[in-house]
Amino acid sequence: MELKSYVREIADFPKKGVSYKDITPLLLDPEAMRLAVKLFMKNLPHGKIDKVVGIESRGFFFATMLAEKLNAGFIPVRKPGKLPHRTHKENYDLEYGSDSLEIHEDAIKKGEKVLLHDDVLATGGTAAATCKLIEKCGGEIVQCNFLVELEFLKGVDKLKGYDVCSLIKYS
Ligand code: PRP
Ligand code: MG
Repeated sequence: MELKSYVREIADFPKKGVSYKDITPLLLDPEAMRLAVKLFMKNLPHGKIDKVVGIESRGFFFATMLAEKLNAGFIPVRKPGKLPHRTHKENYDLEYGSDSLEIHEDAIKKGEKVLLHDDVLATGGTAAATCKLIEKCGGEIVQCNFLVELEFLKGVDKLKGYDVCSLIKYS
């Protein structure tokens, strides 16, 4: 079974010239989801992981599955104004303008080992901002993993110094 065959490419979505990577067919298939989880687990560095951070919204799917599997806590990093308690906030650049992400300040204890997960690594802005949030909380990032990496956008360049793992690559 090749995981890539479960990703549906949608031309010109959300705008002209973009080939959207739709992971919903993969989510429809329990066997494909199990394979993805197995491959993520196999590619993790050795050692205990205390928390898994998933980035709203498409990062939540696999981050929660991985947290359960790792016997770790799950932490949602959310778009602004959604988290009710005290938060740290990071801004990041979009193609046009900027956006921000938040994490609960008390979600991570100093020195805890944290896995960052998102569905797609594109330009890397989202993941890099999330790395900053995790480190503001005192967490140590053990890996940043992604289901899909759009290699041609060079997101890894924004994640220098981190272990980056992606299961499905588009070059
Ligand atoms: C998409 C994707 C990643 C991010 C990657 O999320 O799910 O989180 O973009 O882009 P980058 O590497 O260029 O920062 P989006 O912001 O579209 O929101 P969603 O997950 O809620 O659909
Ligand atoms: Mg996203």
